[in-house]
Amino acid sequence: MIDELKKEIEKVRKDFLKEIDQVLSKENLKKLRDKYTSRKNGIVTEFMHNLKKLSKEYKPIAGKIINELKLNIENKFKEVEKSINSKVYKKVDYSLPDFDFSVGFSHILSDIGTEIEDIFLNLGYEIAYGFEVESEYNNFTALNIAEHHPARDEHDTFFIKDFENTILRTHTSPVQIRYMNEHKPPIKIISPGKVFRKDEPDATHTPVFNQVEGLLVDKNINFSHLKGTLESFIKSFFGGNIDLRFRPGYFPFTEPSAEVDISCVLCFGKDPDCKICKGTGWLEILGSGMVHPKVLLNCNINPEEYSGFAFGMGVERIAMLKYGIPDIRMFYDNDIRFLSQFG
Ligand code: PHE
Repeated sequence: MIDELKKEIEKVRKDFLKEIDQVLSKENLKKLRDKYTSRKNGIVTEFMHNLKKLSKEYKPIAGKIINELKLNIENKFKEVEKSINSKVYKKVDYSLPDFDFSVGFSHILSDIGTEIEDIFLNLGYEIAYGFEVESEYNNFTALNIAEHHPARDEHDTFFIKDFENTILRTHTSPVQIRYMNEHKPPIKIISPGKVFRKDEPDATHTPVFNQVEGLLVDKNINFSHLKGTLESFIKSFFGGNIDLRFRPGYFPFTEPSAEVDISCVLCFGKDPDCKICKGTGWLEILGSGMVHPKVLLNCNINPEEYSGFAFGMGVERIAMLKYGIPDIRMFYDNDIRFLSQFG
């Protein structure tokens, strides 16, 4: 008896599910509602009526099964009604402007870094990476930076608490040391990366910035190789119309050392009131020199047999000069109005 009822109910449920699946409009929904739940002769209603005829024994069991069907059907009606309504009211209005889906892009400093790397890769250099946390030995001592040098002062360098002789590297030059300790010449590398100095942020300083270092060591390398390399880099990066000049400089790890200037990218030396070069016609762009024999010796390379040159530049500074960006902090403010002009 109950089994038969169960079978019947299952059939109704199946038929109903098939039918409701086809319903897409309010009108058809009403029709189906009437068919199943109208007070007069809805299929489910009929079942309810017939309950009365059942004996006391079966009534509660049959009632439960029928109620379940009724609830299922009502819930489904509600669900479908909701979905029909949402389609009616939330029709797409094709005349409205599209949402502005912004697409991610690389940061200007990544782009400049890649541009510099590409130029040197084309000149046959390899890329070498070091560590941002360095030993004082690699960062200073091996680079011939004397014990009393002011850069070693706590005011200038971040020392790592509780770790003796451990600092955040102040330049990418310790990568020279790491690389020369592990490789025999010929050596031809550039090493890009972050460096850290205890500077107060202002228009030209931030405590973290990026450098690219270059190192070439081989037999018979002289200053003209350095000049030729930097000239070809600067002309590729800034354009063939840019001149460069070498001024005597001082770095403990190169001898002789030279600061390199490029002709002003804005006025080419023609505007005495130029905002960028201040009328001098020149912009300082990088440090360079011939690798100090002591540095080679510290890495077990014989300076009688080998010589080399090195150079180092600030990525932010180069980007500022290339695009006339007035303040280094703009790279880190994450203002999308600024960043989206590049990349
Ligand atoms: N390491 C130097 C600096 O941070 C730059 C440099 C690199 C100079 C290599 C000469 C040779 O200022």
